[in-house]
Amino acid sequence: MAQATAAIRRAQPGETVTPPTNAEIMFDHHSADHADNWVSVYENMRDKCPVAHSSSYGGFYVLTKYADVAAAIGDDDTFSSLNQQEEGSIFGGIIIPPSPMVSCPVEMDPPDFHGYRKLLNPYFTPRYSNSWEPFTRDVTTAMLNRVIESGKLDLIHDLASPVPALLTAKLLGLPLHDWRLYSDISHKVVYTPRDTPEFDETTKGLLEILAKVQLVVDERRVEPKDDLISALTQATVNGSPLSSERIMEICHLVIAGGNDTTTALLSNAFAWLQEHPDQLEWLREDPSRLPAACEEFLRIFTPTQGLARTVTRDVEFGGHQMKRGDRVLLAFASANRDPEAFPNPDEVVLDRFPNRHQAFGLGIHRCLGSNYARMEFVVVMEELLRRLDDLDVKLDAAHRYESVGIVNGWVDMPATFKPGERFDSEFEKEFF
Ligand code: HEM
Repeated sequence: MAQATAAIRRAQPGETVTPPTNAEIMFDHHSADHADNWVSVYENMRDKCPVAHSSSYGGFYVLTKYADVAAAIGDDDTFSSLNQQEEGSIFGGIIIPPSPMVSCPVEMDPPDFHGYRKLLNPYFTPRYSNSWEPFTRDVTTAMLNRVIESGKLDLIHDLASPVPALLTAKLLGLPLHDWRLYSDISHKVVYTPRDTPEFDETTKGLLEILAKVQLVVDERRVEPKDDLISALTQATVNGSPLSSERIMEICHLVIAGGNDTTTALLSNAFAWLQEHPDQLEWLREDPSRLPAACEEFLRIFTPTQGLARTVTRDVEFGGHQMKRGDRVLLAFASANRDPEAFPNPDEVVLDRFPNRHQAFGLGIHRCLGSNYARMEFVVVMEELLRRLDDLDVKLDAAHRYESVGIVNGWVDMPATFKPGERFDSEFEKEFF
């Protein structure tokens, strides 16, 4: 059961605080109960125990208020992102429980982190990301062409999953004829419950993708082209070339960070707009409203619900005496609905302004791909509004993720629409 069971009072400035023992709660962000009730669970926690402690997964604190998440994430000396796989290490990286696969640079701390972030920055600027808009639109057109004459599609399998998968593959320099594998696996790996035969199958698929990445890394070392993997094979950080292992850690992060998060953003928007047809029409009337709507969907659904840190030194935080090695979950999803940061936080206001949500995190690790995600959202929604008339999303037949512990998404989402005509697409000519 994921619920806040007890209340604590927050410390006043200058007040000596006895470590609260009644802030121990039953909380498991991966549980099905949490997936169903995260909005009310977090509301309850913000009210009663904004910094709480759960004994799940070896124990961790949960920060639920906007200001507390911002304070912790801004203090990367005290709240470390490092994932160190060595025996006995206290550093568990940004996932609870820790991921066995280290992600670079998101699971690194300064000073090592800075060289990698600097290397990646030019490939993620607003200008460079937006230069991929024509490719993204062409791929979206191709995906819609596959279904446009039939009058039905699965909004996730046929659209919201393939488009980000293809964009990240192209950005990295992976062969695009494997697009179905990238799309299916990067989606399934996020929602398939561990310890099931389906998960073993998905893991095999992921290893297949990583083997393809490794092949491209080896090729580009010898013969570089104009893509991110080539840039990584030719680069140096602090005077040394990047090992293949390090390049794989970066590629894995770009695939994992870039694909299903954007899929989840789009899917939640599709579902919400089905239930608010007047708002769908409002966007159709003037698609220049889409960028602001994107920010509001990011805030209200928070595709990446929360990520973790490890405490590097004994510190008092939010009335708690945290110890070196303690793990802390930064609940972005809760921060984004904190009434102290957003008026009427549970209301969706598509032109909300200002909208300083934490969906992309904050601080030195703030999402590198935010400009890609925003551009993809706008392009996919524009094409959907332009081409899918009478869209009817079958929410009764759609399925949410059983766990929203990391990504808050949907497994599938069938829909019907008025059949239309095919549009010209270069991607379609080459790959279908
Ligand atoms: C809606 C879509 C997305 C969401 C909600 C999202 C969310 C996040 C968040 C919360 C972080 C911060 C991690 C931390 O503080 O520990 C992050 C980092 C990152 N994201 Fe995204 N992301 C999205 C899309 C993308 C895309 C499209 C890409 C790549 C094409 C990407 C690549 C990355 C990378 C490389 C980092 C690590 C940055 C660093 O450590 O310096 N993300 N993302």
